Amino acid sequence: MRTIPALHSPLKPPLCLCLLLVIFILGCHGVGEFSFNDNKSKPVSNNNADWMARLNDNMLLSDVLIPGTHDTMALHGGPLAKCQAWKLEDQLKAGVRYLDLRVFNFFSSDAGKLFIVHGIIYQHKRFEDVVNKVNDFLKQHPQETVLMRVKPEHFKKGKVNDLLDDYMNKKKISVWVNKEIPKMNQVRGKIVFLQKEPFTLGIPLTSTDQQNDYVVKKIEDKKNKIKDHINEAAEGRCSEKVYLIYSSGTGKCKNFKTPKTIAREINPWLTQHLDKIPSEEHKCVGVIAMDFPGEELISRIINLNFIGNQN
Ligand SMILES: *[C@@H]1O[C@H](CO)[C@@H](O)[C@H](O)[C@H]1NC(C)=O
Repeated sequence: MRTIPALHSPLKPPLCLCLLLVIFILGCHGVGEFSFNDNKSKPVSNNNADWMARLNDNMLLSDVLIPGTHDTMALHGGPLAKCQAWKLEDQLKAGVRYLDLRVFNFFSSDAGKLFIVHGIIYQHKRFEDVVNKVNDFLKQHPQETVLMRVKPEHFKKGKVNDLLDDYMNKKKISVWVNKEIPKMNQVRGKIVFLQKEPFTLGIPLTSTDQQNDYVVKKIEDKKNKIKDHINEAAEGRCSEKVYLIYSSGTGKCKNFKTPKTIAREINPWLTQHLDKIPSEEHKCVGVIAMDFPGEELISRIINLNFIGNQN
């Protein structure tokens, strides 16, 4: 109300122009505009390439809020299968530190050759391609840590543990396979495995998602679920496990919702919602796994680690 008289008062031309410009810019790029990205060619800034370097060495990894991608390598297979636009290198550069890998062991005895799939769709990458890319990144950014969840799909799920354990040993890849939650200084420059049955290497991962929570009928319901899951994780005990929250989802054929149309609505909302959580409640939120995140949403999650007293 107080601004109305100001609008009636005569403004000097330059100020007028400035205001118009501000209104124009806000109109074109509202909050959340850059929370969603489905353009694989969109360049990534360097702003968040080394964000973990700013974390205290003694901080438990489970106390860090970590931006992640759901179905990290799902870049192919049409609108119902595609969950990401940026290739792995760009996701890492943008600040993503949790990778969700679905591997398919087609009677292979070499873990490096395990296929990366989404459902039944091959994503044109093998496990070794992913590990090599992550290692290249960690060499250039030695203060960072990349959490890796491996989800065996389809056949011979139980074999994947031993295969990967052997593979990482043979290739001398620094990877955290223990159950204990490490401090930051124990895992800088390393991959950290997260375990969830049937994969049993690394830190226990607890998903707040219930079965079928990924099916989205109404966006409003999905928002409420994300809110509940953030609260649940915030109240949880994270000295023994890492919490995982999914912001991603997909529709049923009937309602024409795809991972992309959902992310387009959820991501800007989530960017704003995260601002409303008091900083003392961020602890234990853990990993937020997203589809099509843009740099603004990733930055928002990262920055929550540096406001308030998180150590
Ligand atoms: C994707 O990003 C590139 C690089 O910024 C740009 O040239 C291109 O027009 C964008 N494509 C779309 C569809 O926006």
